[in-house]
Amino acid sequence: MNIAEPEKSEGYFGGGNVLLDLRGRPIRSANLTFDEETGIGKWSEEDFVRTLATGFRPDGTPLRFPMGPIPELDEEELRAVYAYLRSLPKIANRVPRQAEPEEPAVAASEGQKLYTKYACSSCHGDDGMGQADLRQAAQHFQTREALEDWIRHAPSIKPGTRMPAWDGIIAEPEYAPLIDHVLALGGAGDPR
Ligand code: HEC
Repeated sequence: MNIAEPEKSEGYFGGGNVLLDLRGRPIRSANLTFDEETGIGKWSEEDFVRTLATGFRPDGTPLRFPMGPIPELDEEELRAVYAYLRSLPKIANRVPRQAEPEEPAVAASEGQKLYTKYACSSCHGDDGMGQADLRQAAQHFQTREALEDWIRHAPSIKPGTRMPAWDGIIAEPEYAPLIDHVLALGGAGDPR
């Protein structure tokens, strides 16, 4: 590490550092230099700002834990981070992406499949005990409608939360089975 000029440290922002997901499996940090093929060289400033503000990549796929949206930074600050990253030397370093989580068992319910598909499990854990404790959802939300509203619009309901807003990402017919699964994680039926 070159402390006076960190940009000159080997591999600076080139990615590949090993982090752990909630299952304890390695997940490598991405290459954030502007190399076109292996980094974020093809990302526009708009893509970058929107992804970090919402937690969804330009193609609509969710960022996975330990990455997520960064509500602490406003748009101007995100633009400044983009400008800084663009100023760094490009590094060609292809970081292997962790495979998408395996499909749950064939016997899994529709809701459990959606919970995995939308990476709810990456932040909340397969059992609902990761970030926040989904097993308490039936106590925290009086009705299914309130729970659905939270899943759609959490950042409007609680500004600064790291729970993304799924409205427009999750297909309409998918909410009911997904909510069934969230409630099942807590061993509860519908909210009383
Ligand atoms: C990027 C990480 C992340 C992803 C992905 C994510 N969540 Fe969350 N979720 C959170 C965080 C953090 C909280 C805690 C919010 C708070 O209180 O500020 C939360 C809270 C919740 C809560 C409220 C729990 C309670 O009892 O208070 C529910 C329900 C929930 N998430 C459902 C989901 C579902 C369903 C999905 C997938 C469609 C999902 N989440 C995907 C991070 C995430």
